[in-house]
Amino acid sequence: MKNNILEIKNLSFAYLQQEVLQDINLEVAKDDFLAIIGPNGGGKSTLLKLILGLEKVKTGTIKISKNLGYVPQNTNININFPIKVIDVVLMGHKNETKVKGIKKYFKIGYTKDEKDCALASLKEVGMEKFADSKIGSLSGGQRQRVMVARALSAHPKILLLDEPTSSIDVEGQKQIYDLLKKLNKEITIIVVSHDISVILGYASKVAYINKKLVIHNGIEKDIIDRDNGHFCEVEMIQMLDQLKQKDCSC
Ligand SMILES: Nc1ncnc2c1ncn2[C@@H]1O[C@H](COP(=O)(O)OP(=O)(O)OP(=O)(O)O)[C@@H](O)[C@H]1O
Ligand SMILES: [Mg+2]
Repeated sequence: MKNNILEIKNLSFAYLQQEVLQDINLEVAKDDFLAIIGPNGGGKSTLLKLILGLEKVKTGTIKISKNLGYVPQNTNININFPIKVIDVVLMGHKNETKVKGIKKYFKIGYTKDEKDCALASLKEVGMEKFADSKIGSLSGGQRQRVMVARALSAHPKILLLDEPTSSIDVEGQKQIYDLLKKLNKEITIIVVSHDISVILGYASKVAYINKKLVIHNGIEKDIIDRDNGHFCEVEMIQMLDQLKQKDCSC
């Protein structure tokens, strides 16, 4: 895999009869910040699930390093459940323990080390002072940071996030992406996003998926800055298509 942490070759996938992904090829390097964009139903979440092993690969191959962190789309935590932020983060620990050398997957309570690690993850996302707050008392953006902390507490080499900023205002989106950029110094970031104008300012690589995948290694800054960073998705697809024709390395 050389410097690549993820290699996808000739991947196609169908749910029953419906083909959702077609002949996907993608390489991600260790220091990449990959943004995956595309329309609703384009196959973005399905691709992440295949990478994570939550859906089974039938056609093509995916080679990936171990230690993945995942922040799913629409995190289905019941925010009315009276659970503390620190406990949400602790749920991200691999819940396995060894008793007389035999792995057990259920255990009660957490060790001091695990709690310290959860606090360190919260600190990393700037949320340590909320450790004892109820998760339901946080704003949407703060809650997403906690979800990132939960994924980080398993010490991943790659962090995959599925629309971490949906229903968060532009300022909140920037804060989350600033955080991901900081984390990207140590780990690979793969993020699905609809916030094209914001995400392009952060990503080192952009993949557009609508059943098929178009990728470009880096987007020229002047294109992002044009029109104050706002341009529509149609324009984005055309631009990626043009870049693909020009750039045979992608
Ligand atoms: N578990 C499933 N069973 C059957 N079909 C599914 C399943 N999950 C997704 N699909 C279908 O696969 C297609 C791709 O869905 P997917 O969730 O990957 O899209 P997406 O790009 O993540 O969309 P969105 O931007 O709305 O989140 C859709 O047509 C969807 O209806
Ligand atoms: Mg999705």
